[in-house]
Amino acid sequence: MPENARRRLAVLVSGSGANLQVIIDRIESGEICAEIVCVISNKADAYALIRAQKHGIPVVIHENSKYADRTAYDTATVEILRNHKVDLVVLAGFMRILTDVMVDAYPNAIMNIHPALLPSFTGLHAQQQALDYGVRYSGCTVHFVDRGTDTGPIILQSVVPVEQDDTEETLSARIQKAEHQTFAAAIKLYVEGKIRVDGRKVLISQ
Ligand code: GRF
Repeated sequence: MPENARRRLAVLVSGSGANLQVIIDRIESGEICAEIVCVISNKADAYALIRAQKHGIPVVIHENSKYADRTAYDTATVEILRNHKVDLVVLAGFMRILTDVMVDAYPNAIMNIHPALLPSFTGLHAQQQALDYGVRYSGCTVHFVDRGTDTGPIILQSVVPVEQDDTEETLSARIQKAEHQTFAAAIKLYVEGKIRVDGRKVLISQ
């Protein structure tokens, strides 16, 4: 790929799309030099779709309920991604675990944001898990997706304090602010070619 080519991103969503909005805004402001070639949602009513459409970004409603199993769904997803010639797949609140079909098609080219400091508190309700455990700090992790759940090489993390009177909602809101900055920063590093993966380790050149 020529050095000045804009990387082609697909953003996969299931919900509100606040992370998607930040990525769109950073691309429009010129801070991230990339193009979102499609937003794919497994939910027809995801607000993220409206956000994408407001910015003229093509959307694909790709409902998992229409497929026999996860593998069939992911096989179809890979076809959509290949048709759009996608370089980087961004999971921005995409509430599905990927099968090997998808992970193997895009090695170290699928990024996820997780609302905890991995490897702690994997899976669902990470913020509540952190509260229940009684940690003083939590945060978010941007990582590449491998065959495990929330186990791939870690790109960036941000820390936020946990307050004594936090609820799942208040902690989630604090983490989300960190998510937006951290995700955008990781995508920027990727599209600028500053990320190299060596086994479990992500090496960043400045
Ligand atoms: C984020 O909190 C993310 O950590 C989790 O899902 C949420 C997505 O929010 N995986 P949004 O759709 O970007 O608003």
